[in-house]
Amino acid sequence: MAGKYQRERSSSPFSSSSTIFVSIISLVVIVSLFFFFSSSPSSQTSFNRNTLPVFENPEIKPELSFVTSLEKFLTYRSRTKNLHDDTAVANEESVKKLDELIWKNEMERVYEDQFDSASSISNVLKVYVYEMPAKFTYDLLWLFRNTYKDTSNLTSNGSPVHRLIEQHSIDYWLWADLIAPESERRLKSVVRVYRQEEADLFYIPFFTTISYFLLEKQECKALYRDALKWITDQPAWNRSEGRDHILPIHHPWSFKSVRKSVKKAIWILPDMDSTGNWYKPGQVWLEKDLILPYVPNVEVCDDKCMSETEKTRNTLLFFRGRLKRNAGGKIRAKLGAELSGVEGVVIEEGTAGDSGKKAAQEGMRRSIFCLSPAGDTPSSARLFDAIVSGCIPLVISDELELPFEGLLDYRKIALFVSSSDAILSGWLITFLKSIKPSKIKEMRINIAKHMKHFLYSHPAQPLGPEDLTWRMLAGKVSNIKLHIRRSQRVVKESRRLCTCECRPAANITTLF
Ligand SMILES: *[C@@H]1O[C@H](CO)[C@@H](O)[C@H](O)[C@H]1NC(C)=O
Ligand SMILES: *[C@@H]1O[C@H](CO)[C@@H](O)[C@H](O)[C@H]1NC(C)=O
Ligand SMILES: *[C@@H]1O[C@H](CO)[C@@H](O)[C@H](O)[C@H]1NC(C)=O
Repeated sequence: MAGKYQRERSSSPFSSSSTIFVSIISLVVIVSLFFFFSSSPSSQTSFNRNTLPVFENPEIKPELSFVTSLEKFLTYRSRTKNLHDDTAVANEESVKKLDELIWKNEMERVYEDQFDSASSISNVLKVYVYEMPAKFTYDLLWLFRNTYKDTSNLTSNGSPVHRLIEQHSIDYWLWADLIAPESERRLKSVVRVYRQEEADLFYIPFFTTISYFLLEKQECKALYRDALKWITDQPAWNRSEGRDHILPIHHPWSFKSVRKSVKKAIWILPDMDSTGNWYKPGQVWLEKDLILPYVPNVEVCDDKCMSETEKTRNTLLFFRGRLKRNAGGKIRAKLGAELSGVEGVVIEEGTAGDSGKKAAQEGMRRSIFCLSPAGDTPSSARLFDAIVSGCIPLVISDELELPFEGLLDYRKIALFVSSSDAILSGWLITFLKSIKPSKIKEMRINIAKHMKHFLYSHPAQPLGPEDLTWRMLAGKVSNIKLHIRRSQRVVKESRRLCTCECRPAANITTLF
């Protein structure tokens, strides 16, 4: 039971003949009401917030561009007022009351389920979306909207600020889908609920990345503190210590100053870096958090493009980007030295802006393999650029974690090479040349099938990254509930360490 059909559910208690009778009566009533109201000049359409008519056409073409989609979103949304504000301060009583209601709801669901094995309990995630004050949400989107044309401002390592925000705009795509009217939504894996006690998970729509890049440093820190207070004041947060709350912090710098106070929440991340540069050990792990793909920088190479480029991919290995990076990215300089001048290899220094984007896109579409080395972090947007360009990623990033790995097998669409092998003289090219054309063809077919998993859009599409996000999260829910309950009854100071986390085995006992 899900998505747009959720509100049409009804199990009729009537027999079919009485149903027909009731239908006829209702029809008569409806028709007479119609004539009554349509003759009245003051007749008025009233909307509740589930049926706001955002776009006239229900079959809206999915929009893939963040800037374009945001523009439409703000134009429409600015006409609708925030109908509600969830600001609250938890106290013992409110937390207890919520906890009691949640218990009742969960019991109902458990017992309902025993008679109806096809019921929705296990599959459709119910998400409560907080209504936060506009300074955490709409104001930040407007700030982006009003400044994005000014792409001249660069970050310390030379990337245009707005481009970076776009790359990490998963917070926009998830939220825009969640709050869209049900009639416009396509996803069946998640449904928005309006009562907290019905929720499996809580979504916090705070735009941490936009604040980080577009606000002045102290202003940003102050907003982070405000957001932290707002979130932790919620009764639902208090009840679970945040364990069932989803926090989109997709840029590794975003929300950094207050992250330690929200470490039990579900973080939406670009990767997990085990060096401790970006994420402290004990704050992130695969069982708790979720990795989401970057928003690609290049346009997707669709079926037509894939067949047109099939015969013209003449570059064996392509890389365009900066060769000097920190941390794990030092591998880039070594690879640059090892590969430069080798026949069939194109390595270019990247440039910002539209021309840089075009060159990267064309280069990837002309190539069989695309180098995807670690950058400042183990992950980079380039991996997803390669995939949507139909270029087989050659991943050289030993600590990389990948999005949706519970659902996707990346060995079917990418090659993984250890950095120690990759820098051995001549090794990489010999390895690439040993790969059979039939295998390349098969991988490219798989890539074409997989592209949709990496294309954010509005409306969000089935099997797109938003959909896979909810499917992955649905898999975590029982375990999250387990840990909430356990923490509610466990004796404080007991040996409460309980871990099934994927992280380096050493030092586990010192992490909490
Ligand atoms: C770009 O930098 C200038 C000068 O530092 C500043 O006034 C302006 O607000 C910045 N624009 C954005 C979008 O950050
Ligand atoms: C829950 O609220 C109480 C006060 O009612 C507070 O002492 C406690 O720290 C809160 N817990 C969390 C996890 O916010
Ligand atoms: C464990 O942590 C300590 C302190 O953080 C560190 O000095 C030590 O090297 C770590 N041990 C291992 C095996 O990683």
